[in-house]
Amino acid sequence: MNSACIDIRNLNVFYDGHTALKNISLSIPHRQITAIIGPSGCGKTTLLRSINRLIDFSDGVKVSGEILVDGQNILGPKADVTSLRKKIGLISQKPSPLPMSVYDNVAYGPRIHGMRDKKELDKTVRNCLETAGLWEELKDRLRTSATKLSVGQQQRLCLARSLAVKPEILLCDEPTSALDPVSSQNIENKLAELKKYYTIVIVTHNIHQAMRLADYVVHLYLGELVEYGPANEVFQKPKEDRTRAYINGTAFKELEIDSQINLKGKVCPLNFVFAKEALETRCREEWKPTARR
Ligand SMILES: Nc1ncnc2c1ncn2[C@@H]1O[C@H](COP(=O)(O)OP(=O)(O)OP(=O)(O)O)[C@@H](O)[C@H]1O
Ligand SMILES: [Mg+2]
Repeated sequence: MNSACIDIRNLNVFYDGHTALKNISLSIPHRQITAIIGPSGCGKTTLLRSINRLIDFSDGVKVSGEILVDGQNILGPKADVTSLRKKIGLISQKPSPLPMSVYDNVAYGPRIHGMRDKKELDKTVRNCLETAGLWEELKDRLRTSATKLSVGQQQRLCLARSLAVKPEILLCDEPTSALDPVSSQNIENKLAELKKYYTIVIVTHNIHQAMRLADYVVHLYLGELVEYGPANEVFQKPKEDRTRAYINGTAFKELEIDSQINLKGKVCPLNFVFAKEALETRCREEWKPTARR
């Protein structure tokens, strides 16, 4: 592995006292794509939001441990959160364009950072929309409100908006979940190109996407790090049975229980706790001598 861009050490995150991430330690290398995989509720978004400190906006959250970005602990009291967020762009699971035009969405960050020249702004907006695969579609609608775009277009616009402030690290939370196969493929191709210049961390539920894109893979389950390593090793020879089961999509009791619980609507933040309790209860039941026959 080349030198670590992000070094996570003993990271714990609690929401109202419930553990969402448990003692996570891993290194994310420079200018590679690291994919975070794992079932719903396992803590993928929490991990991304910890890396750019957006987690600070969650009520009742408590974070411990260290996250070193280029050697600086960004969880420390002296961390400069504004410059951190310029350095680390986050494309959210739910696209959240600003309630303004397409052009202004992309120009927003550069303007805040002092870009005033109209030609320079025009060039930046065009480059970023091209990179996000939106220019041809929207070049005649730059003044349209971004909220009128389709969800897939909004997701690509959010990518363009992140790129406009020239971040060094791109965190992408399921960036293609709302896209059709062709648009997904475009975004995947863009991310594969962008890794020449950016360190990319992508959360995806799509194992095939992770296989196509990732250089490194992180597998989380119920807030714990199950396995981490080079993608070819994790995908071809996973060390952990749970990783093999997740990759193969084989019926895995925990996943089944987790999804049943989610379906019952017992979500955030207790689904994590309910999933664990239900799993433990079911395992105890199944392993009673009478149940084994
Ligand atoms: N703001 C919050 N307040 C309380 N609990 C939260 C909050 N955000 C997340 N959680 C809980 O923390 C756990 C991890 O959530 P997280 O969103 O990180 O999961 P995820 O792996 O991204 O899931 P998904 O694949 O569904 O997006 C879940 O049990 C969730 O309900
Ligand atoms: Mg998520």
